[in-house]
Amino acid sequence: MPSHTQIVIFGASGDLTQRKLLPALYALSCENLLTDDVTIVGFARKEKGHEQFRTELGEAIGQHSRFKAEAGESGKYPWETFAGRVYYHKGNFVNADDYTALLKFLDSLTSENTGPSNRLFYLATPPSVFQVIIRRLGEAALVTKNATGDGWTRIIVEKPFGQDFETAGTLNNSIGAVFNEDQIYRIDHYLGKETVQNILVFRMSNGIFEPLWNNHYIDHVQITVAEQLGVEGRGGYFEEAGILRDMIQSHVLQLLTLIAMEPPAAFEANAIRDEKVKVLHAIRPYSQSDVNEHVVRAQYGTGHINGDDVVGYRKEPGVNAKSTTDSFVAMRLDIDNWRWAGVPFYLRVGKRLAKRVTEVAIYFKQAPYALFRSAGCHTLEPNVLALRIQPNEGISLGFGSKAPGTAIQIDPVQMDFLYETSFQDAQPEAYERLLFDCLIGDSTLFARRDEIEHAWDLVTRILNAWNAIPRPQIPQYQSGSWGPDESDDLIRKDLRKWRKL
Ligand code: BG6
Repeated sequence: MPSHTQIVIFGASGDLTQRKLLPALYALSCENLLTDDVTIVGFARKEKGHEQFRTELGEAIGQHSRFKAEAGESGKYPWETFAGRVYYHKGNFVNADDYTALLKFLDSLTSENTGPSNRLFYLATPPSVFQVIIRRLGEAALVTKNATGDGWTRIIVEKPFGQDFETAGTLNNSIGAVFNEDQIYRIDHYLGKETVQNILVFRMSNGIFEPLWNNHYIDHVQITVAEQLGVEGRGGYFEEAGILRDMIQSHVLQLLTLIAMEPPAAFEANAIRDEKVKVLHAIRPYSQSDVNEHVVRAQYGTGHINGDDVVGYRKEPGVNAKSTTDSFVAMRLDIDNWRWAGVPFYLRVGKRLAKRVTEVAIYFKQAPYALFRSAGCHTLEPNVLALRIQPNEGISLGFGSKAPGTAIQIDPVQMDFLYETSFQDAQPEAYERLLFDCLIGDSTLFARRDEIEHAWDLVTRILNAWNAIPRPQIPQYQSGSWGPDESDDLIRKDLRKWRKL
């Protein structure tokens, strides 16, 4: 169990701290997964005292935590006890003196406790200040590179990790100058989702599917990450990023590598990450003409979501009225290796789509011979194994069944596994699992330097191809639809179609 640790959150006044980080740390305490000597220090620019910070967080916990503060009375961890371990340290990210003061403050907290003092720094700030914070941490001697009997130091870095291949490399160099690689935890919250962790378990603990997981039996794979939400007040950030950077570089390529990787030599952080990197390495690099042929981008216009009118992307606050930023991307990727040769991976990601759904669908090849053709059954649905990442978390397998009756009629049916009915316990939030893993020093669910850089390499090639032929217009799709017609054309030209979700 993590103990004797000071967690310093840079960007303590931000949304992420209030919505995700503090609720996750509180949930870990409620689950008895953090000892009482773990303290949390919020570092941010605004002037405020410890009490004010605690009150603000109490309100945030009320809104966002799966454990309500009152639960203390029914045997969970009382909020007041937790709040007593939370402190606020006012500081400017750039000002060196504020880091010297932080060190003093942390030391004063340590003297109240006994035992080693471990330190975890969490960068929950805008990426523009990542580098200066890292530099200042080093200069103020807040970082111990090699763990000693006196404790360890680690750092969690939020996404976006760079803007492209080059800036990701520069950021990696800056962090590497102050921290060793095994101290750096690059977070991707998709890896903390139970259903994402289940991908490897499902693939590698079930003898029935393992032999089928290759180009002999799989026709193609579709990965869909659809959101109904728009940019939600993050127009300024999104305008610079676009969905390719925001989602494909991180979450979607993580899903793809877990689906496509070879079994690792051991269930251990570096062995797993080695295999993920090999997949990224094997993705066929795109030339300019490949990008034009295999990648579609578009932007949401006005439309309806759940019956409500919504504005188009260009009318969102913080967005340029003539913006050509992508809020939807569909693409075909090919993995040039022994297992996947000839099996395309189709990715489709967008905001303001018809439904919120994240799913990986494995399409199996058709049975070799259409035995039932003579009975009038010409078209059979392919078998599809769908891993539902969210919502309705679960897995389903579609197959053909004879419909009851005297005639031969084959209808598609489903075998379904639903987390909700099979497991009674509530699923922990992704941030709970990831914070816990970092505190115990398990980096399996965090991205390694080479993983990040390979993913950026792929995405940067696409960005460069787009920049080479600037477009005055970007195809629009109606909010509440499944994206532009170009997305259907992309998969139709391979004689396939997107799964109806
Ligand atoms: C974030 C992206 O990383 O993931 C957001 O920046 C996106 O744009 C979010 O909405 C999606 O996460 P989830 O867990 O809601 O699927």
